[in-house]
Amino acid sequence: MCGIVGYIGFQEVAPIIINGLKRLEYRGYDSAGLALLSDNSLSILKRAGKVTDLETLVEVHPVSSTIGIGHTRWATHGIPNDVNAHPHVDQTGTIALVHNGIIENHAAIRQRLQRDGIVFSTDTDTEALVQLISAFFDITHDLEHAVRLALNEVDGTYGIVVVSSREPDKLIAARRGSPLVLGINEGEYFVASDASAIVGHTRQVIFLEDDDVATLTRNGYEVKTLGDEIVEHEIEEITYDIEQIEKSGFEHFMLKEIHEQPQTIMDSMRGRLIQEKGTAKLGGLREVLPVLNNARRIIITACGTSWHAGLVGEYMLEHYARIPVEVEYASEFRYKDPIINEDDVVIAISQSGETADTLAALREAKLRGATVIGICNVVGSTIARETHAGVYIHAGPEIGVASTKAFTAQLVALSLLTLMLGRNRGFISIEEGREFAQELLNIPAKVEEILRDTTPIQDLAERYYQSSNVLYLGRGYNFPAALEGALKLKEISYIHAEGYPAAEMKHGPIALIDENMPVVFIAPQDRIHEKVISNIQEVKARKGQVIAIVNHEDDVIDGLADYIIRIPRTVDFLSPLLTSIPLQLLAYYIAVRRGCDVDQPRNLAKSVTVE
Ligand code: G6P
Repeated sequence: MCGIVGYIGFQEVAPIIINGLKRLEYRGYDSAGLALLSDNSLSILKRAGKVTDLETLVEVHPVSSTIGIGHTRWATHGIPNDVNAHPHVDQTGTIALVHNGIIENHAAIRQRLQRDGIVFSTDTDTEALVQLISAFFDITHDLEHAVRLALNEVDGTYGIVVVSSREPDKLIAARRGSPLVLGINEGEYFVASDASAIVGHTRQVIFLEDDDVATLTRNGYEVKTLGDEIVEHEIEEITYDIEQIEKSGFEHFMLKEIHEQPQTIMDSMRGRLIQEKGTAKLGGLREVLPVLNNARRIIITACGTSWHAGLVGEYMLEHYARIPVEVEYASEFRYKDPIINEDDVVIAISQSGETADTLAALREAKLRGATVIGICNVVGSTIARETHAGVYIHAGPEIGVASTKAFTAQLVALSLLTLMLGRNRGFISIEEGREFAQELLNIPAKVEEILRDTTPIQDLAERYYQSSNVLYLGRGYNFPAALEGALKLKEISYIHAEGYPAAEMKHGPIALIDENMPVVFIAPQDRIHEKVISNIQEVKARKGQVIAIVNHEDDVIDGLADYIIRIPRTVDFLSPLLTSIPLQLLAYYIAVRRGCDVDQPRNLAKSVTVE
């Protein structure tokens, strides 16, 4: 969603902000802008459209400055146009603010200030906040104090950065519910909503906590609470390289990330398998292990792709660890007055670690006494910090909005958890455990084999890219894989796609099937392979076009499917790690063929930090 970059130091600020905003484009946005401070006056440049449009505007109106703030906006209040783009300024034009999140009581603040004669010029919730800061500044004559007073009156979520010509040598940053990171270098300081915007300049960072207010000057920084108490945060080191957030020769980030999977799958299990004992060790769960081993129930909560990973986890954990598992959409879970017992374990799965609904769901579960575990990719993210314990999936930065490598890494984390709990609880024997460990280790090479030649999938994309609907069917572990395949296609190609459990097709979707309806069957040779073959026959009998993802050895499928994609075989519970790869590629190549913006699909955001 929205992105923030701020800088104070000795370098020309405009290129730093523009390049930082480009790094944040992947989060999804519809307008961009910046505020530059020079000669004690603020220049505001903003545009609906892409960061490159803003860059052109900056070239036409160059401003030399060493302090400024920038923003990419994903519209929530007010349409995406030039006026509603951030930064927003107060009515005197001397205070500028960029804001991620939502000010829920903005209407009340606006009315109050309007009664005092303050004139508003946009429809946004953000303008209410900058006008409120300005009103307090008139009283305090101290920017940081004015920001704290204003934020004390705000309901909602925010990550903000403020700059003012009335106190020209500082930036004020604050957060509640929307991430902000400070970057530290000699004589220069950065602030951003995501470390990828600043990692090209510095690796030394501080992750702000909720209700922190930071003041940055060229001589240093200070972090206080909203209640005016100084807080000390450890400086942390970003571990990834700039190359990891570049396309490295691939046409899109999504394609790069699909091809990274042999490596990321390996990275997510590295050092965690104990082969001779046929089990796994997850260091981040050490302290909650007794609770986990004895959990009466596990509730997995997540959104989007992470929710699909959770569904695979349900099948695995119930079968091998014999623990009842429920998988809940975080957005539903948080408001459904859930029944949670003290011996329940709640697992929040989130690539970004910042998804607002998932965060709220885990807070609800914590309040009700559950032990809460996170499965996250982004180190230091809010969910990672607020859970009692957790597992990082180590997939590296994922830039493509449609999640690929994070999904497979989440599956690995869940497989390791299943192996560990299955062994600890005595439902997986040591021999079986060793076999599973070996199968997991074999997965990266099998993924590599699928990726070696993508031409069959490109041919398939060529054949079906003009479809208006696609049905994805699978059973067991591959039912969630079908959901994920359909989600990938609709996210990036805008083709309507639905995933269904293959047998459930008879209760509705079968009515859609005719000679124009492509149906993707995910049918590896598992326990229920024969049943899926029967479902394929049901589709064929109605002249549907069958695309089948099957194993190399499968000869039953010949003559039954219109198009066959063959992949290596593995044990049932790991099969989504392989079946999801051709589905990712199919969505990708169809989207490219349709001329879609693969990495930044319309209306979507990488990290959904509002409800
Ligand atoms: C957004 C993204 C999806 C992602 C979902 C959950 O909708 O576009 O790709 O699966 O959020 O995100 P999370 O970071 O919590 O896994």
